[in-house]
Amino acid sequence: MGIIKTIKRRFISMNNLFSKNHLLKDKRIIITGSNTGIGLELVKKLVNDNNIFALVNHKKNNLDEIRSKNIRIIQKDFSDLDFNPSFKKEIIEFNPNILINCAANFGPTNQNLEQVEIDEFKKIININAFAPLRLIQILEQSKNLNIIANITSGMASLKNNKSGGYYYYRASKTLLNSISRNLFFDLDKKNINIFSIQPGNVKTKMNSSGIITPDMSSQKIINILSVNDANLSGKLIDNNSKILAW
Ligand SMILES: NC(=O)c1ccc[n+]([C@@H]2O[C@H](COP(=O)([O-])OP(=O)(O)OC[C@H]3O[C@@H](n4cnc5c(N)ncnc54)[C@H](OP(=O)(O)O)[C@@H]3O)[C@@H](O)[C@H]2O)c1
Repeated sequence: MGIIKTIKRRFISMNNLFSKNHLLKDKRIIITGSNTGIGLELVKKLVNDNNIFALVNHKKNNLDEIRSKNIRIIQKDFSDLDFNPSFKKEIIEFNPNILINCAANFGPTNQNLEQVEIDEFKKIININAFAPLRLIQILEQSKNLNIIANITSGMASLKNNKSGGYYYYRASKTLLNSISRNLFFDLDKKNINIFSIQPGNVKTKMNSSGIITPDMSSQKIINILSVNDANLSGKLIDNNSKILAW
């Protein structure tokens, strides 16, 4: 298994050598899940040339090393959907061009049928599906928002679910996909593109056996946002912009 992973990693790195890295500049970008993994790498890559509004769960320790006046860090636990008026005011006044919903919670290790607890299920759905929706509801009126990226997962696919389990994570991300597709019809009229992006099999706190680095995954997400192809809005895509079946 170790050898196969190493070969896959090398193959992906080789392929990556030939892909063009895009930049985003002078944008105002909200990024959730900013303290770790893909979200943290997005912040690091974007903070020099853009204004970042970084949302974190409890800790912001990894962001403390970023010495930039271009970043504002706000703590918000998405298991609680009470977005108070001062929080709403702050994100509306930030006036973002781009919202990246990257935060998610996998939930407990044990998610088999007999272990499913509805309260825990609701909490994961709040974080992974309802919080992104609430942020979009709050921000859709803001004048300059034109791109939303909802970071989803291959585990959300009904078609590719060949092994079951992981009730909380799978179902919450499937709901996020369904919400994203619906939002496309509402947001298209407002010239806001919405991308549902599978970030790849990424080595992070959530996925210790991931194959690619958060650095690589975040660059590919930036490439998608920089090209901002309206033909991909409302679609599910992988990190190379390939359209996937929901
Ligand atoms: N890694 C992969 O292979 C992979 C594959 C498919 C999809 N994804 C998706 O990629 C995105 C980024 O994940 P990652 O791999 O970078 O994992 P990660 O490092 O665990 O990042 C998840 C982030 O979400 C935040 N979060 C968790 N619970 C939260 C809550 N209650 N309120 C607010 N924020 C909360 C976490 O903050 P704390 O750490 O402070 O709790 C963390 O910063 C997620 O949407 C994930 O589903 C990842």
